[in-house]
Amino acid sequence: MKAVGILALLGCLVTAMESKVYTRCKLAKIFLRAGLDNYWGFALGNWICMAYYESHYNTSAQKMLKDGSVDYGIFQINSYTWCRSKRLQDKNHCHVACSALITDDLTDAILCAKKIVKETEGMNYWEGWKKHCEGKELSEWKKGCEVS
Ligand SMILES: *[C@@H]1O[C@H](CO)[C@@H](O)[C@H](O)[C@H]1NC(C)=O
Repeated sequence: MKAVGILALLGCLVTAMESKVYTRCKLAKIFLRAGLDNYWGFALGNWICMAYYESHYNTSAQKMLKDGSVDYGIFQINSYTWCRSKRLQDKNHCHVACSALITDDLTDAILCAKKIVKETEGMNYWEGWKKHCEGKELSEWKKGCEVS
């Protein structure tokens, strides 16, 4: 009986820490509603493709870089320039806590991504986009999603 209780408790803990991974089409709809389609001239497919290669649609994805900064969330936005973590030198151009970029609610992450595109004049910020999405035929990414 004891073992069962412990297992149940562990199960609860694991569930609580579970991260949200969006499906491609759910994301496509959220992006469309948020005005990302053709934002700064980048069609919807660019955003879906980019998010896939940056985070595999995992909202809680985090990656520590060699310089000690961290890439956060679905768009892997870096703490050094764009959000506020505990480090004092962070520039926080998006005026947002980095922790707000790893929630299921994508509002802050999308606002920040828009700012990055605007301030850096394009999507070159994202290595995953440059490598896998730039200049490619991207309509496949929104195929079957009822967003066109
Ligand atoms: C999503 O990212 C978090 C944090 O890196 C990780 O713990 C989790 O396993 C990931 N989820 C999936 C389904 O890959």
